[in-house]
Amino acid sequence: MSTAKKEYRRITVKTLVDMKANGEKISMLTAYDYTMAKIVDSAGVDVILVGDSASNVMAGHETTLPITLDQMIYHASSVVRAAERALVIVDLPFGSYQSDPKEALRSAIRIMKESGGHAVKMEGGKEIKESIKRILNAGIPVMGHLGLTPQSIYKFGTYTVRAKEEEEAKRLIEDAKMLERVGCFGIVLEKIPANLAKKVAESVSIPIIGIGAGNGVDGQVLVLHDMLGMTHEFHPRFLRRYLNLYEDMTKAMTQYVNDVKSEDFPNENEQY
Ligand code: KIV
Repeated sequence: MSTAKKEYRRITVKTLVDMKANGEKISMLTAYDYTMAKIVDSAGVDVILVGDSASNVMAGHETTLPITLDQMIYHASSVVRAAERALVIVDLPFGSYQSDPKEALRSAIRIMKESGGHAVKMEGGKEIKESIKRILNAGIPVMGHLGLTPQSIYKFGTYTVRAKEEEEAKRLIEDAKMLERVGCFGIVLEKIPANLAKKVAESVSIPIIGIGAGNGVDGQVLVLHDMLGMTHEFHPRFLRRYLNLYEDMTKAMTQYVNDVKSEDFPNENEQY
């Protein structure tokens, strides 16, 4: 497979489907604020996900459940202002779409109108089918999310690998096919066996983006703060750390403290 990147001026949901058809892998990272999103976009990342993982990495909650629709809109609008090339997908947070399709549509409309995001992502399969259809009918692109779905953490009880048993694997494949049939433009598969993820990617024509789902899928997503090594207490097997920013930033800040205390900073050239 060639690693050459075709040049796209602006990534759209159609671009992603074309990328899969052409065998070009899709790169996706999360971002939650303007400054980081600017760097992610200019690095050529195809998709920026304003994930509800903001609840963990930005707000320090243990789970993704507490983040609100208003907070997601705040993060997403900051990211949208930065993104010139990347497609911006925004997570519908827990509690904003599970109760009924009308509420789901209202939440999706708020995201699109108030943040300027380009699409929404929702966790779940056939149990949220009607909500997905209603949102799609309003012209809003939807990405699905199957496998480990962190909004259901209290149902699962743990963050371990999902769909290892045949019955759950079969249900997951059926859900993926259903999401394609109703019109989703892509699906995130989180923390499932690599051979199952590959099978899903081969059985649908929409792109499958994996996180902890192996290399047989159409693209990869990571949480930005994890891949930059800013978070240092989270080390699942699937995570590749490209930097160790926790250490580098701590070093820089410690140096700053020393420089202030010792009156080394500011020096003559750093004042008016
Ligand atoms: O919220 C998030 O960051 C996500 C990714 C882990 C896919 O949903």
